[in-house]
Amino acid sequence: MRTLWWVLGVVLVGGFGLGYGAEKSLHTERISGSAGDVLEDDPVGRLKVFIYELPSKYNKKILQKDPRCLNHMFAAEIFMHRFLLSSPVRTLNPEEADWFYTPIYTTCDLTPNGLPLPFKSPRMMRSAIQLIASNWPYWNRTEGADHFFVVPHDFGACFHYQEEKAIERGILPLLQRATLVQTFGQRNHVCLKDGSITIPPYAPPQKMQAHLIAQDTPRSIFVYFRGLFYDVNNDPEGGYYARGARAAVWENFKDNPLFDISTDHPTTYYEDMQRAIFCLCPLGWAPWSPRLVEAVVFGCIPVIIADDIVLPFADAIPWEEIGVYVAEADVPNLDTILTSIPIDVILRKQRLLANPSMKQAMLFPQPAQSGDAFHQILNGLARKLPHDNSVFLKPGEKILNWTAGPVGDLKPW
Ligand SMILES: *[C@@H]1O[C@H](CO)[C@@H](O)[C@H](O)[C@H]1NC(C)=O
Ligand SMILES: *[C@@H]1O[C@H](CO)[C@@H](O)[C@H](O)[C@H]1NC(C)=O
Repeated sequence: MRTLWWVLGVVLVGGFGLGYGAEKSLHTERISGSAGDVLEDDPVGRLKVFIYELPSKYNKKILQKDPRCLNHMFAAEIFMHRFLLSSPVRTLNPEEADWFYTPIYTTCDLTPNGLPLPFKSPRMMRSAIQLIASNWPYWNRTEGADHFFVVPHDFGACFHYQEEKAIERGILPLLQRATLVQTFGQRNHVCLKDGSITIPPYAPPQKMQAHLIAQDTPRSIFVYFRGLFYDVNNDPEGGYYARGARAAVWENFKDNPLFDISTDHPTTYYEDMQRAIFCLCPLGWAPWSPRLVEAVVFGCIPVIIADDIVLPFADAIPWEEIGVYVAEADVPNLDTILTSIPIDVILRKQRLLANPSMKQAMLFPQPAQSGDAFHQILNGLARKLPHDNSVFLKPGEKILNWTAGPVGDLKPW
């Protein structure tokens, strides 16, 4: 209770703001061996990537049909392609490549409202794999084990937006041996296989940059969140959406003065996050969230409410030290949990968040910058090298079953 009053006092008296002291008087803090060190690795010279040349119907033409694909949260599949084309890790000689990349935009199929639908993705992906497997010898050499694919949709390469259906489908069988680069990350889930690289969702860096406010602005909001609590369109009965976690936040704290939460998305949204100490990052339909990227970029301590989530670049970013994990079942105690965090712990998290390499790793800027999310993906791929000899199949050996999976997926694309 004493701590509670202390924080309340600090927040309500105003003007002080925890961020103030942290950012002004102290430098950023690093954790040796993780933040900083690994995030600042330079992938150049540590791997070579060969980009397959595909007909433009797999990428550019799809984007031409709907340029909105450049702005939605799965746009990383497009920007990663552009990045690789001019990256020094690119090789034009497939014989010397460590990794093979297939530029295919499987999430760029939007409804009139701009929601990406993955219904065509499995056929499109199969078609692309068939093409590279028949035109080049490299796929058959490993059946994809030295190939990576960017599959940023809700449940990655399970290619369905409903979790039940995604689980039923499972990862597209042809991608069984490939390395998947995806936003979806949840432990013990059929749509996340070992060795995948979990990446942040795409959040527009220029737009965020444009809303930066003075670093010494006091953090006078204790807890901040904007977003859905109930999804009445897709879950009219309630209870499925966010496994009820967002609903519990609303029911318990809508009238609590420490909580600045609402479904309204104000024009000062980005500025508000820079005035907040804690930013809620509850799961939505799938456990990804641009909220997390925004919190890190704006130095707001992310409160992660998503049991078993696998956060982006978790092998390089010390999420436990930067953020606060709250179990979904503990949401009713969120106020006590957050107000009992000792002030020095809060200040340390803020100093870690102020480390520019942390923010950089969450973003896909154009042009790319060292340490950004593109580079973290390459670092993740480089750390998997050299490939074990066992990935190369013996002459005549076959592992993949080209006709496995739902019959509908076998139709030509
Ligand atoms: C690779 O294997 C597939 C399936 O067995 C076959 O259709 C294709 O011709 C092979 N590709 C090459 C380049 O030999
Ligand atoms: C490949 O998958 C199909 C469809 O599930 C199945 O009928 C067939 O027996 C499988 N082939 C092999 C060799 O396992």
